Amino acid sequence: MKVSIDDARIINLPIFPDKRGNLSFIEENKHIPFQIKRTYWIYDVPGGVARGGHAYKENMEFIVALSGSFDVVLDDGVVKKTFSLNRSYYGLFVPKGMWRQMENFSTNSLALVLASTKYDVEDYIYNYNSFIDYANGKNISV
Ligand code: TYD
Repeated sequence: MKVSIDDARIINLPIFPDKRGNLSFIEENKHIPFQIKRTYWIYDVPGGVARGGHAYKENMEFIVALSGSFDVVLDDGVVKKTFSLNRSYYGLFVPKGMWRQMENFSTNSLALVLASTKYDVEDYIYNYNSFIDYANGKNISV
């Protein structure tokens, strides 16, 4: 089945507000629609830099701005959409098969990424034209 940008969505997380500080959490297959196989985070991003210009064939992700703000630009090969993340009580579900770029990182921003697969360089599509062919179902090896 072809993936569509409509499958990407902001997911609100539980919040326990407290005078001592707020608390939010994520449970796999409950708040996000996959099992977590890997967690990584992106930090100390210099101003003006973009990260993650690539797509994954299988990996799904959930991205939270734990601190600061940044934009995630998703592209399903037809439609492009920008999601601004700037709170730690919601995140962006990124389905597999999306071209995705992260940009406009604020100073001291911290991006938490939960991933549905272990790191596998073979799962990446680094070339945008190859991604467009892949998204259109062309039988090519990328
Ligand atoms: P990459 O996903 O290519 O980040 P970006 O697209 O933002 O440049 O990751 C950068 C490098 O980090 C990659 O070459 C290998 C390493 N890496 C891992 O070893 N494990 C991981 O889970 C991730 C996300 C990256």
